[in-house]
This record gives sequence, structure tokens and C-alpha cells, in this order.
Amino acid sequence: MATAELAGKHLVLGMTGGIACYKIAELTRLLTKAGATVQVVMTEAATQFITPVTMQALSGRPVYTSQWDGRVPNNMAHIDLSREADAIVIAPASTDFLAKLAHGMADDLLSTLCVARDCPLLVVPAMNRQMWQNPATQRNVTQLRADGLQVLGPDSGPQACGEVGDGRMLEAAATYEAIASFFSPKILAGRRVLLTAGPTFEPLDPVRGITNRSSGKMGFALARAAQQAGAEVHLVAGPVALETPWGVFREDVQTAQQMHDAVMRSVADADIFIGVAAVADWRADHASEHKIKKTAERTLPTFTFVENPDILATVAKLPHPPFAVGFAAESGDLEVHGEEKRARKNVPLLIGNLGPLTFGLDDNEVILFEASGATKLPRADKQTLARTLIAEIAKRLPEPSPIR
Ligand SMILES: Cc1cc2nc3c(=O)[nH]c(=O)nc-3n(C[C@H](O)[C@H](O)[C@H](O)COP(=O)(O)O)c2cc1C
Repeated sequence: MATAELAGKHLVLGMTGGIACYKIAELTRLLTKAGATVQVVMTEAATQFITPVTMQALSGRPVYTSQWDGRVPNNMAHIDLSREADAIVIAPASTDFLAKLAHGMADDLLSTLCVARDCPLLVVPAMNRQMWQNPATQRNVTQLRADGLQVLGPDSGPQACGEVGDGRMLEAAATYEAIASFFSPKILAGRRVLLTAGPTFEPLDPVRGITNRSSGKMGFALARAAQQAGAEVHLVAGPVALETPWGVFREDVQTAQQMHDAVMRSVADADIFIGVAAVADWRADHASEHKIKKTAERTLPTFTFVENPDILATVAKLPHPPFAVGFAAESGDLEVHGEEKRARKNVPLLIGNLGPLTFGLDDNEVILFEASGATKLPRADKQTLARTLIAEIAKRLPEPSPIR
């Protein structure tokens, strides 16, 4: 999550009666941490699962549970609360509440303010698998989508009742991601983005190998930002322990050759290729099949190396290449090496990391190299920087070609 990613956004967070109410405590924390203001409204059933006191403490605002609440000066909370909101999010959304929404019912504060709203409505269903599969629920969800509501999830897996299947609420972090994505401008709508991220691992024997200090954070942040900008995102990741960004298709690889092969399999479909991975330039010519042991004579092992394929240059050389973007981490003279590398790899845009110490850090400072010159971007956390870079890439994209 970027600092203050939802700054200035005001959400009505409507809670209905389900076990997943416990997840909303964490969701509220994530939303407020991202700068959003959150007005919680609970159905009577929701207050049986978590108290308004907890939700007030976490949101920093008094909670509304009744339409007869006199705290709103004109006594019309059902109108006033939604007028201030950028969106209403119903989480968890019970079977009952989905049915009420689908039929335009208005018999309590939350349902009435949904009917009276003039802002987008997002629902995050949470229920037992049979309740979800019930034809009436499915009819209601179809109706809600047709009415223009955003239905986030549900997830699949073990449920509070002990059964396993579809219907459980998205985790708080995934719900947060879906909400943040909803608010992002869709500057890459309809575009397909292929990215590489992380280090590669070149084996020397079954237990040892050569890798590098790339954490994958910048590439994963770019994948997330591209997804939020409306793109279909395919992320080819080297060995990193990072969570896959919400809505992103991830393919794990180890070696540079595997990364190259994965990219080549998918590049024909891509409008944009962003090579963020720190790909090993060389690999051991012959990795040992067995673990190399110390010998009595203490003979040191020797390796010869061969060059790995240059993924970025190969992509750029294709007859119909996607808009190809490279990354460079240099240990000095970035201004000289960055432009030289861009021209040599023949890509329209190369992003140079300022300073060699960005590996693993949460923020970064970069220079954009392109034929028309170099532009330095201000230092920012990697999520914020990723959004800026996606906007910079979107600005430079050619119109979609009919032959691609
Ligand atoms: C322990 C317990 C757990 C429940 N969990 C859910 C649930 O996860 N999803 C759901 O749709 N209903 C669940 N229900 C049923 C709802 O609470 C019930 O339908 C209620 O009328 C919903 O009211 P509301 O939509 O006004 O909040 C549960 C009920 C109980 C007693």
C-alpha cells in the first residue's frame, strides 16, 4: 500500500450480519491508514457479531446503526451519509442484504441509504457456500451487477461453519486492494502488460547457485499499479517471497533461461513489456548434478560461465514488439550508462535506479531515459513511484495497432 493512497476519499462502510464482521476491523485499519475517512453504518444483525464501540474506535467516528438516530441535524442520516461519500462499501454483505439491494428494499438505515445514494456501491459478499449457490442469491447477484454495482469476490475455501467452498469473504487485504483498484484511473484499460520481477537463480549444484539482491518489490509494485490502472497483468517472477498483487496472473521461474522462455511464450499478446527483473548475465556452463563436496586434497571447484539470453533486447528485436521498458541498476555514472543502455537495447524507455542501494528498500529514486532526453523523478515509496511510472508509460503508448 502506498502512503495516503486513498487520501481525500470518504467511504461509508456498511456492515451486515455475518461472521466475517471480524475482518472489517482490519479493513477499517487499512482504509484509514491509506488516508480514507470511514463512516461505519451497521445493521442490527452486524452489531451481534462485533460491537459499534470497536468500529468507532478503529474508524475514529461515531457509528450509525439506526435510521431513528437523532445525531444528524435534520434526522435524515439515510440521505446525508451517502451525499458525503465517494463510495459505499458493504462488507460483509449478507445473503439477506444482497436480496434487499436487488429488490430496492429500504427497511433499515443501511438499506435505505443504499437506495438513496448518489455514489458508487461496492458489495463484498460473505456467506456459507449453499447460501451463495442458492439460485435466489445467484439471481440477486446477477441483478446487482446489471444495476452497475461492483461485486468483489467472494473467495473460496474453508468457511466458519466448517464447510469448504465458494462464498467466504475476501480477506481484509484483498478487499482493500479491490477498493484501491476501484478508485484508480483506468489509464491502461484494455491493455495487456507483461512484466518480469525479482532476481534469477542460476544453479551451481542442486543446493547452491548464483543470485542477486533484487527484492522484486519494484516489479511487484508496478504489476499492482498496472492492474489498478485497468490492465490485464502477467507477472513472471524470479524467486521472491512476495505476495501476488490482487488480480495479477503470476508465473514463477528460477533461472534467466526459464524467465526468457516464459516471456517469449506470452509476449505476442502483450501491449507493454516491462523488464524489471535483475536477470543474471551469466550461468554456469555445467551445473553439477550432485552436491559438490569438499575433497581431502581441498581442491577448489572451478566453473566456466556462458552468457544468458538478453530478454529485453530479444523482446525489442521482435518484428512487432510491445512497448518495451527496461530497468537499469548501475553502481556509478547512471546518467552515462542509462542512455547508452537504452540505445543499445533499442527500447523507447529505460528507467534507471539512482544509486545501487535500492535493492530491498521501500523507496526509490529513478531517472527516465528516452531518445528526447532524461527526466529525474522525485524520490518516493515504491508503490507511489510505480503509479507515477505507469502514468508515464501510459502517456507514451502508441495507439493500439489493429495487427497486434
Ligand atoms: C452465527 C451466525 C452466523 C451467520 N453468518 C452469516 C454469514 O456469514 N453470511 C450471511 O449471509 N448470513 C449469516 N448469518 C445470518 C444473518 O445474520 C441473518 O440472515 C441476518 O438476518 C442478516 O441481517 P442483515 O442482512 O440485516 O445484516 C449468520 C447468522 C448467525 C446466527
